[in-house]
Amino acid sequence: LRRGAADPDLGGRRVVISAGGTREAIDPVRYIGNHSSGKQGYALARTAAARGAEVTLVSANVSLPDPAGVRVVRVESARDLAGAMDAERVGADAVVMTSAVADFRPASSAASKIKKSGAAPAPVELVENPDVLAGLVASREKEGLAQTIVGFAAETDDVIANGRAKLARKGCDLLVVNEVGGGRAFGTEDNQAVVLGADGTAVEIPFGPKEDLADRVWDLVVPRLPS
Ligand code: CTP
Ligand code: CA
Repeated sequence: LRRGAADPDLGGRRVVISAGGTREAIDPVRYIGNHSSGKQGYALARTAAARGAEVTLVSANVSLPDPAGVRVVRVESARDLAGAMDAERVGADAVVMTSAVADFRPASSAASKIKKSGAAPAPVELVENPDVLAGLVASREKEGLAQTIVGFAAETDDVIANGRAKLARKGCDLLVVNEVGGGRAFGTEDNQAVVLGADGTAVEIPFGPKEDLADRVWDLVVPRLPS
């Protein structure tokens, strides 16, 4: 299963991967965040490098060692991530968004630490963050680029129907859909997914190490890369 130096099918390709979870500041010491460990994105970076790609990893708040031979760009918030991805997407053959992006951020971040006053706390007003993945697809269409774009989604309930709707809404080529619950996804070493294609395909990836899932995702990306 594991590809590597013997089969550098991503040789000469540039890939950009986002990993981790964004943090949205409330004040200088607090933020709205999420539980993304970054492990799946880092596994995609390691396996792409092993298959010969030039890899840039846009990493949001991950405490994992930098993968060897991979350029790592660090970001904190969704807006940082949007800026970094917009710069890095240029000239990339494939872009993979594994990061958990905060959908909303505080409308303003307090300059000073918020103190208890004895009164009821002020509500935190939220505003919507940019959709980075949809923005990547829009830029590709606008510039007429040949680029393979992959999203990730964690879903509950009707996982496939939700995934299909999300794939259509985002306009990406592949959507890797995880079913949430049962100890899968966040922070664990193993993962399981269905990869939905804009061409109508659905490929099940069985429960196993995130590195194996990463290799299976690249197996699906390679035939969709621009010629
Ligand atoms: N994503 C993104 N920018 C956002 C939100 C999500 O780029 N502001 C990307 C994620 O990195 C992921 C994909 O979109 O690759 C799906 O994320 P998800 O949170 O499932 O999608 P949403 O459109 O935010 O839908 P939901 O309302 O289900 O959270
Ligand atoms: Ca979301």
